[in-house]
Amino acid sequence: MTEFAADRLLLFGATGDLSRRKLLPSLCALDADGLLPERLAIIGTARSDIDDGEFRNMAREALEQFLPAERRGSMAQFLNRLSYQPLDASSVEGFDALAAKVAEVGQSDEENGGLAIFLSTAPSLFGPTIAGLQHAGLTGEKVRMCLEKPLGTDLESSAEINDAVAGAFPEERIFRIDHYLGKETVQNLLALRFANILFEPIWNSNIIEHVQITVAETVGLEGRVTFYDDAGALRDMVQNHMLQLLALVAMEPPTSFDATAVRDEKVKVLRALRKAVASETVTGQYRAGAVNGQAVPGYDEELGKPSNTETFTAIKTHVDNWRWKGVPFYLRTGKRLPERVTEILVKFRCVPHSIFESMGAGLQPNHLLIGIQPEEDITLSLMAKVPGLDEDGVRLREVPLKIAMPSAFAETQRRIAYERLLLDLIKGDQTLFVRRDEVEAQWHWIDAIRAEWEANGVTPKTYTAGSWGPSAAIALTERDGVSWHE
Ligand code: BG6
Repeated sequence: MTEFAADRLLLFGATGDLSRRKLLPSLCALDADGLLPERLAIIGTARSDIDDGEFRNMAREALEQFLPAERRGSMAQFLNRLSYQPLDASSVEGFDALAAKVAEVGQSDEENGGLAIFLSTAPSLFGPTIAGLQHAGLTGEKVRMCLEKPLGTDLESSAEINDAVAGAFPEERIFRIDHYLGKETVQNLLALRFANILFEPIWNSNIIEHVQITVAETVGLEGRVTFYDDAGALRDMVQNHMLQLLALVAMEPPTSFDATAVRDEKVKVLRALRKAVASETVTGQYRAGAVNGQAVPGYDEELGKPSNTETFTAIKTHVDNWRWKGVPFYLRTGKRLPERVTEILVKFRCVPHSIFESMGAGLQPNHLLIGIQPEEDITLSLMAKVPGLDEDGVRLREVPLKIAMPSAFAETQRRIAYERLLLDLIKGDQTLFVRRDEVEAQWHWIDAIRAEWEANGVTPKTYTAGSWGPSAAIALTERDGVSWHE
């Protein structure tokens, strides 16, 4: 943890979608709960030529649209923290005026205060922005840099961005966002595994048969035409969010809950991922169909042209280490699937010998289902005897042992993932941010899949919007005798 709290937050891309939907609402909600440093000033910057007042108006509209009224608190107090400086980040000239603005709003004594910069801009502007910040003296020891995805499109381009940033900031002042790590249920994975004695002894290939991770979305392109068509599901969702989930499920117990210990363990998992072969991956692209009873167009229609970008992918992989020997990890994600659900299924092995078999009772292997969103439930399936006199033989049935997190913690505030991450950025805690070696291990594995697709001429199969992807995704698990959890 770097030892200063930021008293100025500089938001690049401040008029953009992420800022309006997530960043400003998260900051306002934190302010309403009295969690922002009292003197924190927030400076927005983007290309739009607007003044402080117009930026505050834009922010007010965003808050009214994206933050529930009961979380807004006194919006006036929050809006008062905001100021704005227009900037063309592609050339260094404007950065002097930006630095002047940052100095002007700084109310701190120079001793204690620092600056946190949040970069949520097109990747092509990363390099010029870093150069501009260096030119204007905004990269000093009390400055932290937070980077939002996409950080490149492959290992090489991500290394270029990381090199550019590393030229101005040491790793302990670089905060790479993966917003899934800000989700309470994702952090709860660590509590489940490492705050309970029950799971660790069985968390290995002796007892676990396979693991499934599903991130299903009902939305389509959402107007992000150019970005998404250049990315596709593999790079948009698997490279970051899904691999982070996998790493948390599979990692060894860290020695403490600190940034180095946790990230050291995650990166070992990411490096142990087996290179996927084309025949163990599936890609798909949605065609017109219906989601939640509503007719929706196909991807190519939304895009306005044919495309080979995958909007669905399913992958079978392994973590090649002692703990996970022979345990398949099945990943699947897609747009325009029947429901919005993110969940992890841990399927255990069957009991080695069933004393009930001779009495006609079948057994189901146990499983643990961890709901990340929208349901935040942890369900352990157990076999139980169906009550009765058993005259026709014993009958057993699977029953759930279920904890619904929202009701177990009914008294606590549910928060936007970015609230936690922005607060950690301001305080300087990197535990829930992704380290460079993790990102690079992720890209290394993803690039190999893309190379396999390229070498094997893999193009996405079509699936009807509102279905669970192409039938090949079902075949991927069925040939191992496994069904996707639905
Ligand atoms: C983003 C992706 O990182 O995550 C989007 O770019 C996706 O395509 C989003 O929709 C999903 O986030 P969440 O929090 O809604 O699951």
